[in-house]
Amino acid sequence: MTGDNYRIGILTLSDKGACGDREDESGPLLAELVSELGNVARYQVIADDLDKIIMMLKSWVDDLNLNVILTTGGTGLSPRDVTPQATEAVLDYQVTGMAEAMRAASMGKTPRAMLSRALVGVRQKTLIINLPGSPRAARENFAVLLPVLPHALAKLNGDPADCGVD
Ligand code: MTE
Repeated sequence: MTGDNYRIGILTLSDKGACGDREDESGPLLAELVSELGNVARYQVIADDLDKIIMMLKSWVDDLNLNVILTTGGTGLSPRDVTPQATEAVLDYQVTGMAEAMRAASMGKTPRAMLSRALVGVRQKTLIINLPGSPRAARENFAVLLPVLPHALAKLNGDPADCGVD
């Protein structure tokens, strides 16, 4: 599979966004940023509800076989922030280095980066990436992963080539 045709889902978690009190800026922004990787097959804004998020993630992986799911929002410490818990519940395994890299790079932007509990991991053949909710934070965090994503997705899809060191 070439990098151009990965199928991507963008899931915005926001109580205010879900009931129309706030326009989602981060989802559309991420849709622009992923355009070099593939096409956005699903985009949805739902409330910070643990069971709903689990249901949506499972269905996007198990029924739709998306290659990548980006979530934005709900990674912090507010009582309603449950995105990492929902993500952990559906993952087969975590890719801790990717989440660590986002936080490490983000610490150079703001010490508040340490407050994001974002996870990255794999369910079946789908890479699930949590990003914080503000457009700025989503963009800064995703920029850390984007250069590595083509290789990560190729490997996840069974590319047998040796990993070159440069
Ligand atoms: N990371 C970057 N790069 N830039 C930011 O502005 N904001 C932080 C953090 N990560 C931020 C960031 C803040 S203030 C919070 S509270 C956490 O992400 C969690 O955000 P969320 O609850 O919207 O997911």
